[in-house]
Amino acid sequence: MDLKGRDLLTLCDFSKEEINYLLDLAVKLKKMKKEGVVWQPLKGGNIALIFEKTSTRTRCSFEVAAHDLGLGTTYLDPSGSQIGKKESIADTARVLTTMFEGIEYRGFGQEIVEELARYSEVPVWNGLTNEFHPTQLLADMMTIKEKLGDLQGKKVVYFGDACYNMGNSWMVACSKMGMHFTACAASQKYFPEEELRGKCEEWAKESGGSITFSTDTDCAKDADVIYTDVWVSMGEPDEVWKERIEELLPYQVNSQIMKKAAPHAIFMHCLPAFHDLNTGIGKEMYEKFGVKEMEVTDEVFRSPASVVFEEAENRMHTIKAVIAATLGAEP
Ligand code: CP
Ligand code: NVA
Repeated sequence: MDLKGRDLLTLCDFSKEEINYLLDLAVKLKKMKKEGVVWQPLKGGNIALIFEKTSTRTRCSFEVAAHDLGLGTTYLDPSGSQIGKKESIADTARVLTTMFEGIEYRGFGQEIVEELARYSEVPVWNGLTNEFHPTQLLADMMTIKEKLGDLQGKKVVYFGDACYNMGNSWMVACSKMGMHFTACAASQKYFPEEELRGKCEEWAKESGGSITFSTDTDCAKDADVIYTDVWVSMGEPDEVWKERIEELLPYQVNSQIMKKAAPHAIFMHCLPAFHDLNTGIGKEMYEKFGVKEMEVTDEVFRSPASVVFEEAENRMHTIKAVIAATLGAEP
């Protein structure tokens, strides 16, 4: 498998075999890290980390993974660069290409990361756009494999706002990997767009996976994985909170939902999560709308079925696999 020079913009561009290769590499790199093996094949190189939106996991994962591989990092924060304001994406790509071995981009439209990739001569990695979050999905699939074994045939039920980066990415991942994807929310407007659905249906036919949409929470029956994400994503206006809370509260992941799933089912969330009042936004929403827990209850979040922190750890191992593979390093 040769992924040297490839971008990771969305999993749509990757085959089942390529995804499995990255997952297997991540497992190998995790084992090496736990055993204290130092492997710095990319020593002397550098990567740029562009964050037009905030981050804890993705930034830390790229920085730690790069450091472990021997790479230096330069972090460009949401306000600290010329990108898009005084300099075009194309010129930014041309400049960064002269100094870096790879570029991570977190920001808004998918077309921005695609433009960056078009004009850069080094791999570009999508660290989250409005439409996709591919590195998160690699970590999620790695976690499912660790907890439940083979991905083929697993049933994933995604509750809440399924029309943004996480819902889209899950639908793509399931259709590529032969998993059964169900999005469960109040109405059509929370489900992924037709065009992407069409592509995924084709991939699902090939892989043996499936895609369904439901407004009935009973669709959690026999699920292996129950997944959710925040109801309002980064970059969305504050005004949408009211409507989202009203419409998505019946789709909150709580113990009743978990009871419908298979007895071995795991709960997953890309994080950060609003499961208590220990966040600024959580408190503000409680004061405005009286809701103490949003997309997931604290009970489920803290339950033995919840694998959210293992999932967060796996961000680093999978991102390390992506950097190593696309920069041509193999242990
Ligand atoms: N899951 C995720 O991408 O987290 P951050 O926003 O903290 O990077
Ligand atoms: N949908 C969320 C994911 C955060 C990792 C957002 O875009 O804010």
